[in-house]
Amino acid sequence: MTTIDIRLGDQIGLINPDIYGHFVEHLGGVVYDGIWVGENSEVPHIQGFRQELVEKLKAIQPSVIRWPGGCFAETYNWRDGIGPKEQRPTTVNWWYMNDGKFESNQVGTHEFIEFCRLVNAEPYLAVNATTTTVLESRNWIEYCNMPRGTTTLAMEREKNGSPEPFNIKYWGLGNENWGGGGCMTPEDYCHIYRKYGIISKSVGPELQYIACGPYENIPEWTEKFFDKYKEMYTVGRVSPMFGYSLHYYVTNTGKMGSELEYTDAQWYEMMRVGLEMEPFIQSQFDMIQAAMPGASIGLIVDEWGVWHLQNGRHPLPGKYLFEQSSTMREAVLAALSLNIFNNHCDKVVMANVAQLVNCIHSLFLAKGNNCVATTSYYVFDMYKIHQHGMSLKTAVDCSDIIYTIEGETHYVPSISCSASVKDGILAVTLANLAVDEDQEVKLDLHGGEYAGTGSMVVLSSSSHKDGNSFDEPYKVTPMEHPVSAAGSELTVTIPKASVVLVRLDVS
Ligand code: AHR
Repeated sequence: MTTIDIRLGDQIGLINPDIYGHFVEHLGGVVYDGIWVGENSEVPHIQGFRQELVEKLKAIQPSVIRWPGGCFAETYNWRDGIGPKEQRPTTVNWWYMNDGKFESNQVGTHEFIEFCRLVNAEPYLAVNATTTTVLESRNWIEYCNMPRGTTTLAMEREKNGSPEPFNIKYWGLGNENWGGGGCMTPEDYCHIYRKYGIISKSVGPELQYIACGPYENIPEWTEKFFDKYKEMYTVGRVSPMFGYSLHYYVTNTGKMGSELEYTDAQWYEMMRVGLEMEPFIQSQFDMIQAAMPGASIGLIVDEWGVWHLQNGRHPLPGKYLFEQSSTMREAVLAALSLNIFNNHCDKVVMANVAQLVNCIHSLFLAKGNNCVATTSYYVFDMYKIHQHGMSLKTAVDCSDIIYTIEGETHYVPSISCSASVKDGILAVTLANLAVDEDQEVKLDLHGGEYAGTGSMVVLSSSSHKDGNSFDEPYKVTPMEHPVSAAGSELTVTIPKASVVLVRLDVS
């Protein structure tokens, strides 16, 4: 029996809804045939955006969407994506360059903002910090945010159909600048960040700037970046920083099997690597605090998910670049990742799963008239209850699973969990990492009592290799059951390889 102690009085902090964010890059089938089908398409759409995806995405409260990249952002000229669509240039896209495709720029700033409005999400724009000038990027902010009738750029926005400013608050300055974003040293990047930050203050002192963090958990980048960043304070100049971006992919180069075929040990290996996000978050946070004690710089995990890298860097037949199928394995991985963010919501202020559709760890697969929600979509649907909730500390006493892969023995805990309370409702989300064993889990409440009936939502399938596809779009969907509890104990059964939400009134 697993026991989880939940203490109503032991609070971590409020869960920022932006932890439930998304990422849309001009890559493969994410934008074109993903979110966008075009205004003249026979596919049902709203102003060119795939209607089914818009409606389903809105239903899970997407909070924030990062765009236009990724690496794409570092070669993007925002001026290519404004003005009459038929006059927009066709350009080379970083990600299409080897596949004989080009960037049509039919989705640009105005369209992306429209998409965010349709699904009720905040836009988060990634600025090119590598192949354009600081002034051009500052101008993008001016174009988006200056009030109507003020500057020439604001009037150009008005002429292009949007009189009112977009009031975009999140601006990421660069992407992976240690690699695809210019192969910079941390010192070089910090110098550029400082220039962007200070110059852009003239177009919005209240904007929330996000700096590029390290490749994986490499301490040198963060240490050297912050050594240089904090020099500013000695000369009394501050280039503001709201967040520091981390990317964490569970990369599968073959050791974890393939998308649809894997052994139990390969399943556990994926979970083990997924759980390493937790020490990664802690150590990056500690490094920032060591460099700048008391600084209120949040961590932004603006790319995360399972990436089956063994598929290579060209599209597989019939698929888009980086398009992946998924099963309950991706769902359980998504659940444990979101549990980590909830449990560290005093450090993590935003996270964006990569990427929304037809790509790495996607919530949708779409082609022509087909659009299907993946298993991970339903995890986000179940977890949305945590948004704005007060995250509670949990103590999990569960068995470990020991496994051997490529001659090495490892272990993972069998249960991952997070809990939050909001408006008198306790939400506990659990993932059972065991592929072959249901688990009895006792939820021991301290500092309050269960107050009657609630519900339990279960995402599972007869095989953990099941997922949703165009042929079987609803093979794996959540099932809801009533639960009731009084006093301080509740025992529930968590099926093997499943994700579960328990929702109960507490007093
Ligand atoms: O998500 C795909 C790519 O992965 C992004 O463009 C880049 O930031 C990362 O390396």
